[in-house]
Amino acid sequence: MSDTLYAVVISTDAVSGNIIEEMLPSIELFPTSYFDRDDDVARMNLYYETTEEASNTLQKVQEAINGWQEIFELDLSKLEIFTREIKKEDWAESWKSFFHVIEVSDRLVVKPSWESYDAKEGQILLEIDPGMSFGTGNHGTTRACLEYLDQLAGGKKTFIDMGCGSGILSIAASKLGYHDITAFDYDSDSVKISAKNFELSKCDGIEVFEQDLSKYVSDNTYDLVVANILAPVLIANSAKIVAALKKGEASRLVLSGILHKQFDDVVTAFEKHGLKCIDHKKISEWSSGLLSF
Ligand SMILES: C[S@@+](CC[C@H](N)C(=O)[O-])C[C@H]1O[C@@H](n2cnc3c(N)ncnc32)[C@H](O)[C@@H]1O
Repeated sequence: MSDTLYAVVISTDAVSGNIIEEMLPSIELFPTSYFDRDDDVARMNLYYETTEEASNTLQKVQEAINGWQEIFELDLSKLEIFTREIKKEDWAESWKSFFHVIEVSDRLVVKPSWESYDAKEGQILLEIDPGMSFGTGNHGTTRACLEYLDQLAGGKKTFIDMGCGSGILSIAASKLGYHDITAFDYDSDSVKISAKNFELSKCDGIEVFEQDLSKYVSDNTYDLVVANILAPVLIANSAKIVAALKKGEASRLVLSGILHKQFDDVVTAFEKHGLKCIDHKKISEWSSGLLSF
């Protein structure tokens, strides 16, 4: 077996990088990502065993980005897409240097499995190894969801995370005392990584499975439903998301993964199902909403 990997590198500014990073799974590509907000750089990498696979992916990415440019009005002035060779031993550990301990809220601290941290009194440690999946707490959407989970905790609420990524929200829910916790994702790697992270964080009893939201059918309903996916996916699946929410004024829905300019359209789609927006958080270019009946 060769000791070389072929990387497709997508380099752009942080704003368009955030959007491209979230759209890539829709064409079955799951990059590792690095964002440096101070230098306004976003870099996503996809790795292949052969140069042919890398060239095919480069073309697929280029075509997809051309399509998204119109929908999301992407500024692609800093976009560069190229392939490069990399030694396997350098690749395996390289992404770890970009993920460190993050104090997300007064109580929640996200800790990579390979770092140590002395928790202060009252702090809750979320230990994760995100691998290729989404969710380190660094991203504005994950942060907002974690803040809502923290604020809404108490009283033994049930919880579902639709599009769980690394499983970070379910780990937070478990540590904050939610119960009957369910998580799903349509990406099989995310499901595996979530299950591993639940073990790592000693969170027993969380149900996690592979599921496309657009095909999700269940009689189960929850006190808190969180969907941190992109606005078009939230809108297209609004009926399915609302069906998972317990009827009654006490239940809450958190929607995230929404660009500010898309927020009103998302809220309008959910108002059609009898919900109203009771809070709106903005972190960097991302909007998140808290809704209730
Ligand atoms: C922005 S990440 C959120 C991850 C995690 N919940 C968090 O807050 O950090 C979105 C996740 O939703 C998943 N996803 C996107 N579309 C989906 C769909 N139609 N059905 C299920 N999962 C989906 C992606 O694979 C990704 O892991």
